[in-house]
Amino acid sequence: MKDVNMLDGIFKESQVTLLDGIFRESQNKGKEYLIYLDVDRLIAPCYEGAGHAAKKPRYGGWESTGIAGHSIGHWLSAAASMYAVTKDKILLKKLEYAVDELSYVQSLDRAGYVSGFSRECFDKTFTGDFEVDNFSLAGGWVPWYSIHKIYAGLIDVYTLTGNQKALDAVILLADWAKKGTDNLTDEQFQRMLICEHGGMNEAMADLYMITGNEDYLDLAKRFCHQAILEPLSKGIDILEGKHANTQIPKVIGAAKLYELTGNEDYKNAALYFWKVVTENRSYIIGGNSIGEHFGPADKETLGIETLETCNTYNMLKLTEHLFKWSRKAEYMDYYERALYNHILASQDPDSGMKTYFVATQPGHFKVYCSPDNSFWCCTGTGMENPARYTRCIFYQEQENLFLNLFIASELESEDRKLKIRQETDFPRSNKVRLLFEQANGDKLKLHIRVPYWVTESFSVLVNGEIADSSSAEGYVTIDAEWETGDTIEFVLPMGLHAYTAKDNPLKTGFMYGPVVLAGALGNENFPESDILGDHLKLNNHPLIEVPSLVADKNNLEEWIKPVEGSPLKFETEAIGQPGNIKVILIPFYELHHQRYTLYWNLMDETTYETFVDKEKEELERLRSITVDAVQPGEQQPEIEHGIQSQNSQSDYFNVVQKSWRDVRGEGFFSYEMAVEPEKQMYLQVTYYGRDNTLYTDGKVFERYFQILVNGEVIAEQQLTGKLSDGLIDMNYEIPLHLTQEKQKVEVKFQSEQGKAAGGVYGVRIVN
Ligand code: AHR
Ligand code: ZN
Repeated sequence: MKDVNMLDGIFKESQVTLLDGIFRESQNKGKEYLIYLDVDRLIAPCYEGAGHAAKKPRYGGWESTGIAGHSIGHWLSAAASMYAVTKDKILLKKLEYAVDELSYVQSLDRAGYVSGFSRECFDKTFTGDFEVDNFSLAGGWVPWYSIHKIYAGLIDVYTLTGNQKALDAVILLADWAKKGTDNLTDEQFQRMLICEHGGMNEAMADLYMITGNEDYLDLAKRFCHQAILEPLSKGIDILEGKHANTQIPKVIGAAKLYELTGNEDYKNAALYFWKVVTENRSYIIGGNSIGEHFGPADKETLGIETLETCNTYNMLKLTEHLFKWSRKAEYMDYYERALYNHILASQDPDSGMKTYFVATQPGHFKVYCSPDNSFWCCTGTGMENPARYTRCIFYQEQENLFLNLFIASELESEDRKLKIRQETDFPRSNKVRLLFEQANGDKLKLHIRVPYWVTESFSVLVNGEIADSSSAEGYVTIDAEWETGDTIEFVLPMGLHAYTAKDNPLKTGFMYGPVVLAGALGNENFPESDILGDHLKLNNHPLIEVPSLVADKNNLEEWIKPVEGSPLKFETEAIGQPGNIKVILIPFYELHHQRYTLYWNLMDETTYETFVDKEKEELERLRSITVDAVQPGEQQPEIEHGIQSQNSQSDYFNVVQKSWRDVRGEGFFSYEMAVEPEKQMYLQVTYYGRDNTLYTDGKVFERYFQILVNGEVIAEQQLTGKLSDGLIDMNYEIPLHLTQEKQKVEVKFQSEQGKAAGGVYGVRIVN
């Protein structure tokens, strides 16, 4: 078996063990959920996809929709990694059973296809004549995205547990994909890639590394989406308006292909992408995206559906590659920020459930998946995260050993000649001690990361004496021949520091060392449960008043004081306004089941006298009138509002920084939207004021269309471009008889031949 992990330079999972501490606790919780999940229920959609009765009923949530099957893939990856880091035999047994079952289901298909839905959409795609949109391919909901998880899962089971059957199954599945896609011209293949396809290029590259079969390398290259990778490789920022988690895996695959082929275009794309995401599109906790999409550069728009957790799982994977290419501390600075403040913070320590979006809306709260009825994308990556905590703590390259992360752990080299124990209670304490439990006088350059947040220079003691060291690229290096019993000790000087949002100097967060401190805002009007099948359910739950902070940003220590006896807990002086309130700050990773804020408005007294929070006022106005809303062109809102469409497309318009959907010629799109029965409801539709007759592909479309509610035309609308220069909202009265005794209605935009419906930039039911 070829060892994928050693090619990484990251230690194999089995070589690093977590010791007691916050990561170990979280890992244990994560493991419980993996053991809890029932493989038969996870594989049920695969049986049904193959046209056979399942052994047990499938799970709810997304596992009961067209994307089903992604969770068994994530579970395979998660359980294999968890087995590798904990050696839990129950997991190994479950894994063997899962692979046997998947192989059995695969044997039911002549061509070796297996996934959580029928192969119809792929069969259609392989003819070359198929409909494609960002999230649908030949009628399937992101089919490559979903099946990619099974590819990755089987590959992980093979590489981490040596299960030969898993390799045989994934080879068969890859051969099915190869055969089918061989029918496609390059142009058709690239068209197919318009639809989100996860990390198919990465999976095929992995399979090439394992088998040496060039077919998979070719396929990996074909799975590279040129419309995205090409501009990125030239340093062109095309990310605004793009669905974030669609793009990150494409770039991870490109990074792997650079390592395999040496083609610098792949490398340049990855380097540039990482830079524009981490520098220009990330928030305080290292996550990115709003409504799952990248916004314009240098904006930190706050909201409830921000910072999708999957994205950060993927960004960490990408960061590992970049670190391998050049060992710069900035990569691990990012990794550490995102690991503590997003990934660790995303799992509920009580229930082990995971977040999807992490709200940045001040006063909101974390929403976690339910064990049986969510199965969101982030439930899947959330299963994997706790098994990945050992990654990147150490990194070895010949006689260079890098200590990147200060996490209590133990490293043992494969030949057992070297064993190092990292003892620390970081970040609760700032002390770290390394003990060579086993060493035999071999030369080793030990590079210790000096994080960007250290407040003073630090020195390292070797066996109690100040060591000779040198520094470069954010690392302190000690070059020595190490013996059993040698110790290294150092203190990481930490302090409070402010984080200022990129788009507003008043928007401020607080950190202590790498730890983001969130305002702990209590449980006022807290929902009955924050563990939900439906992550949208509480979007309209009332917010609370979050105070502004009136204080001096340059002297945090004067008004933010540690709470004695509670490490990493702070309390402010009474500078919260209005009302002279004191606020409590705690690590975001420790904050669960209460309201919080990551961002505050921090200002001096003069600014406060005239301060009006326009963003908040507008949000409150909208919330007070909104019964339901959909952002056309964005995947989750559209899917969760049961989008139906024919001849419809969507895209993003930079000028107004919003996505849209329209219909060109005969066709429609529709959403299921909530209403309040018995009350007068209005449909509010957002248009671009300059949209008028559309000339495209040599055709002319007058923007003239009907708006229907439950099949009844409530308005005819024409757009002539004479409205105004930006987005405008138009309200249509919905006749009462259409909403009476109804919880939901169908809202439809429809046009005839030669006409166009939309673009529609927003649809809202208001009262
Ligand atoms: O479309 C599949 C996944 O679901 C996406 O990657 C994620 O952003 C979404 O929520
Ligand atoms: Zn997700």
